[in-house]
Amino acid sequence: MSHGPISSRKPHLHRLNSLKIEPQFCPEAKLFGNTIFIRKADSLERQKTDQYREADGMFFDNIIYRGYERLLTGEIRKHHIPRHIAVIMDGNRRYADRLGIVRNLGHTYGARTTEWFLDWCWELGVNQATIYAFSTENFSRTDDERAMIFDLIIRKLDELIHDPRTHDRQMRISAIGEVHLLPGDLQDAIRRAEDATRGYDAMYLNIATAYGGQREILDAVCDMARKVRSGELHADDIDESTISGHLYTNGTLIPDVDLIIRTGGDIRTSNFLPWQANGSECAAYFCAPFWPEFRKIDLLRAIRVYQVREHERKRAATRRIVDMLAACGHAELEGAVGHVRRAIGKKDTATTVVGN
Ligand code: FPP
Repeated sequence: MSHGPISSRKPHLHRLNSLKIEPQFCPEAKLFGNTIFIRKADSLERQKTDQYREADGMFFDNIIYRGYERLLTGEIRKHHIPRHIAVIMDGNRRYADRLGIVRNLGHTYGARTTEWFLDWCWELGVNQATIYAFSTENFSRTDDERAMIFDLIIRKLDELIHDPRTHDRQMRISAIGEVHLLPGDLQDAIRRAEDATRGYDAMYLNIATAYGGQREILDAVCDMARKVRSGELHADDIDESTISGHLYTNGTLIPDVDLIIRTGGDIRTSNFLPWQANGSECAAYFCAPFWPEFRKIDLLRAIRVYQVREHERKRAATRRIVDMLAACGHAELEGAVGHVRRAIGKKDTATTVVGN
């Protein structure tokens, strides 16, 4: 491959992925796309000149990547786009470990990916995004890491409040989870974001913080039991929609999940939205990249998995109907057809009367 023209486009950039480096020793470190670069002048670069070739390769990869992204986007736009995507943003710390940077930075880069993820959802017409920002299990992390994640969420919430995209998109922000367990300043930030966006309904960002799926169901059950005791609710009237309405997601505002994505290589849904995901038998997409590395093509691939599944579901339903019809006797079928004809005939008469 010729290095000339390609190198001249990005002569000062250099891929850092494979380098072990503490960011404080490398003030020139820059995030570009999903990759960290350092400037050519940095001493580490001088030791690693062979990696300039990698930068050239990266430029070439970018062309392929953009083409593939456009192809996938065109393909998935031809089919049904999921309304609600929930994401388990896993692998922030492992990403940082792999780069040799402080672990907290992994969360910072993860939060940038979350911002891009929202852009992509908006572009594609996904109007509900639920992100798993802090699980109840995450309370067991060190004081330092907990404090860092809480500060990061506060900062991101305040940025979202002032970001014109939030208002242009009419994006409503809500927190789901045991918000009362969170520190006061985070609760305040949540309130600020919820208040600033309460009137919006074109897109929804649901942030699961201090969230645990079993706890959510337990809280709903306790809430309903209290209402039954006070006579506000009859036990016989409780059905799936009653339970949905008592969850943190309050069924009417946040519908069931269509697609759940987990990054970082683990194949489990970790107590995330068990009711909302299983009721609708949502599609699941597990992928290897750590959350800070998650790209638009990963989202597009996840949506393609959802679409294939939907297609299979519809085909299976049609096949069942055909099988059922085939299992019916001839006389039964004739009887059913006659019944439908009579019903249509009656309806036609009624329409004529009303029309006159
Ligand atoms: C999981 O990675 C990630 C978290 C516990 C925190 C994620 C939070 C954010 C990215 C903030 C986003 C907030 C807003 C409001 C945009 P991990 O720490 O479990 O990583 P590991 O699997 O490598 O240990």
